[in-house]
Amino acid sequence: MRGSTGEHTVASPARVPGNLVAPLTSFVGRHTEIEAAAGLLERHRLVTLTGPGGAGKTRLAAQVAADRSDRYPDGVWWVDLATVSDGTAVAETVAEAVGAPIVGGRVHALRNHLAGWRSLLCLDNAEHLLDGVASTVEAVLHGCAQVSVLVTSREPLGVPGEAVLGVPPLSDDDALSLFVDRARLVQPSFALDESNTAAIRSIAAHLDGIPLALELAAAWLRTLTPGRWRRVWTTGSRCSSAVPVAHSGASAPSPDPSTGATRCWTRPTASCSAGSPCSPGRSVLPRRGRSAPGER
Ligand SMILES: Nc1ncnc2c1ncn2[C@@H]1O[C@H](COP(=O)(O)OP(=O)(O)OP(=O)(O)O)[C@@H](O)[C@H]1O
Ligand SMILES: [Mg+2]
Repeated sequence: MRGSTGEHTVASPARVPGNLVAPLTSFVGRHTEIEAAAGLLERHRLVTLTGPGGAGKTRLAAQVAADRSDRYPDGVWWVDLATVSDGTAVAETVAEAVGAPIVGGRVHALRNHLAGWRSLLCLDNAEHLLDGVASTVEAVLHGCAQVSVLVTSREPLGVPGEAVLGVPPLSDDDALSLFVDRARLVQPSFALDESNTAAIRSIAAHLDGIPLALELAAAWLRTLTPGRWRRVWTTGSRCSSAVPVAHSGASAPSPDPSTGATRCWTRPTASCSAGSPCSPGRSVLPRRGRSAPGER
């Protein structure tokens, strides 16, 4: 870490620079993607993880960043852009995260502060601020030769030199593991057995291995068995591929299995017609407020 004199000070293990915090839930699978992202970060200074809402971009970025933190003696710095609404505020938000005093222009101040640092900047949830993020990132990459940037965004930034890695769905086995793991959070005694394995595999397949959808589905086990959940879901919605969840995405949904009166959104799918409860207009998972990577 650099002190105010600009000299490096030796960081003890307990005082590693950066602001990554440990996640509160287990991480599942993604060995191939972790290796791919790490390989890209070895060769490129800007790597963007892309994919639809809830695909696991943020979680993967946090895992990759944590795994590689010892390569960045001046720290891994996490900046959540989800709540930033104005592209002109990106540089200031990043500056605040890394502790850069704003003197003069914001981008200028940020670049001066990071010059000479060997750091990884993680800019999370950038898709609604592509221009602001792109210009800030370009300035940092030009002015700070030893800083790398890992971005999560539903779309690439379009900056020269950007390496893009699409985050695919979880594999069938990893989707099953995530579902079971999250099911145990709401029902600690939950176990895979002959009575529920087929239903859970079917749910996971219908949710296309999208982690957020799997987590929300697992939360239903507070009130439904997997078999009951599958029946409600396949018969109670107008859209067979819909995931019945509360639109806020903030809490577990409260279905009415007797009527199937569930509200839903869904991933993009041909089986959802415009105007249905599962309109493709709502085809990506809603942004949820996240204040820290540890809450992922
Ligand atoms: N590999 C994984 N292991 C465990 N949990 C995961 C994994 N991937 C994603 N999750 C969980 O699934 C949820 C959605 O993941 P995440 O927030 O990373 O998606 P996202 O692609 O960043 O979505 P958005 O586009 O809305 O920002 C989170 O609660 C996250 O912790
Ligand atoms: Mg995200």
